[in-house]
Amino acid sequence: MKKKVGVLVSGRGSNLQALLDACADPSFPAEIALVISNVPGVYALERAANAGVPTLTIPHKGFPSREAFDSEMDKALRAAGIEIVCLAGFMRLLSTGFAEGWRGRMINIHPALLPSFKGLHTHRRAIEAGVKLHGCTVHLVTPELDDGPILVQKAVPVLASDDEDTLAARVLEQEHKAYPEALRLLAEDRVAVEGNRALIRDA
Ligand code: GRF
Repeated sequence: MKKKVGVLVSGRGSNLQALLDACADPSFPAEIALVISNVPGVYALERAANAGVPTLTIPHKGFPSREAFDSEMDKALRAAGIEIVCLAGFMRLLSTGFAEGWRGRMINIHPALLPSFKGLHTHRRAIEAGVKLHGCTVHLVTPELDDGPILVQKAVPVLASDDEDTLAARVLEQEHKAYPEALRLLAEDRVAVEGNRALIRDA
């Protein structure tokens, strides 16, 4: 049985697209059953619709608190029978309750080699810091922002000629490989967590 995946988005959805493409392979162990956006009209919603995946727009602005918004998402995910949640450019902080409720079953992609450069503007900060390697990380989500056991990382060189945009493009290419890899590991139940570490069975 394929694992049912819910994807949370806020924008263009290129990582969603990478997941949709991976799920189109009949041998992939997961299927995307719901895409939720907190922002109306974003391109990610169109990508989901083009792939025949049900979508839901839940504008966060309509809710009195983060908890109330998260609980609405939680209800929708559970009603759709979702087993794994992927954050794919979802630009909202999560409440502790929501993060705890999906612990071990929710993953995020971050455009940096964690634990370096948590938060925003990672490419600019990597260039400013003068690092020679940068990249992306897929990790299990915990209540702490951009924290949690790491499942997959991919590194790229930082070139002397790079600006924020060229570096972002090089990293994004790797994101589109890393995210389906990580989802596969989780969907195949190959991830065991020990403290801060995710141990991958049969790696
Ligand atoms: C990606 O760089 C991802 O790592 C970050 O937000 C961006 C989303 O891009 N969390 P997209 O919407 O998947 O194209």
